[in-house]
Amino acid sequence: MSVQVAVIPVAGRGTRLLPLTKCQPKEMLPLGRKPTVQHVVEELTASGIREMLFVTGPGKTAIENHFDIDVELIEHLRVTGKEDLLAELDFEREEIDYFYTRQRRQLGLGHAILCARPFVGDRPFLVALGDSLIGLNHESDVCRRMIDCFEETAADAVIAFQEVPRDEVEQYGIALPKGEAGDIFDLDDLIEKPSRDEAPSNLAVAARYVCRPSIFQELSQTQPGKGGEIQLTDAFRHVLAQGGRIVGLRLRPGEKRYDVGNFESYFNAFLECALADPEYGDQLRESLRKLL
Ligand code: UTP
Repeated sequence: MSVQVAVIPVAGRGTRLLPLTKCQPKEMLPLGRKPTVQHVVEELTASGIREMLFVTGPGKTAIENHFDIDVELIEHLRVTGKEDLLAELDFEREEIDYFYTRQRRQLGLGHAILCARPFVGDRPFLVALGDSLIGLNHESDVCRRMIDCFEETAADAVIAFQEVPRDEVEQYGIALPKGEAGDIFDLDDLIEKPSRDEAPSNLAVAARYVCRPSIFQELSQTQPGKGGEIQLTDAFRHVLAQGGRIVGLRLRPGEKRYDVGNFESYFNAFLECALADPEYGDQLRESLRKLL
């Protein structure tokens, strides 16, 4: 397999979720019974990736603690006769290698990815935003399909896209496909947060990317854009402008992105996740019916 390492940026301040994120990382917000970032790691391992590099920042140590093996907690559950809860900690024992580096200044997503350069070196890699997951209960194999597509097309990058309603295009990076966009399509350009009228399509970047290591060179030369941040989109646009090839892969119908970055999408994501819970979902559905 050509892509063995995932870079998971989790260093953002999450200001859109204040005051919730004042002292806790948004990536640790619960989706159902697990923190968002645990769902993300499970999605990646289901696609065969076992090496995770988190790009962390101030106030994010809860993420590192979460993936540690907590011997004292295990012992406590044993001596207090709560062995039945030990299964909830099985994820600690998965054969996954976790690595952490710090983004020492929050200069944007592009800059966070650049912080992974010394670790990733000359390997291709997958980027998975730590505040978004694709599909519930690791039912999506989009990362696997992106890696296959990357190998088959030998593209410079593969980006996942989701269809969004026309009146939401202003919130996303939007694809300008070359010709008709099928399930897999070549990109002509990427337009960051276009107006509804200017948007060349309704295909929005969906938090997953496969990149060649050459993107690090692009990012190191990318000037800060909006908000003084180094934008990943700008680096991709430069690759395209130089004649590089970037391929878009469309999420399948029913394969949704769950984003915890703002309250509206976080509330929806939490509800869907809780409703899909095999143990508590039906009970919650009943309570909601009564409430509504
Ligand atoms: P966002 O674009 O949602 O930015 O980040 P943010 O700073 O976290 O949130 P707001 O806009 O202040 O509410 C998308 C992903 O990129 C990471 C975030 O942690 C999130 O997982 N990120 C963003 C970084 O790692 N570093 C940054 O400088 C910015």
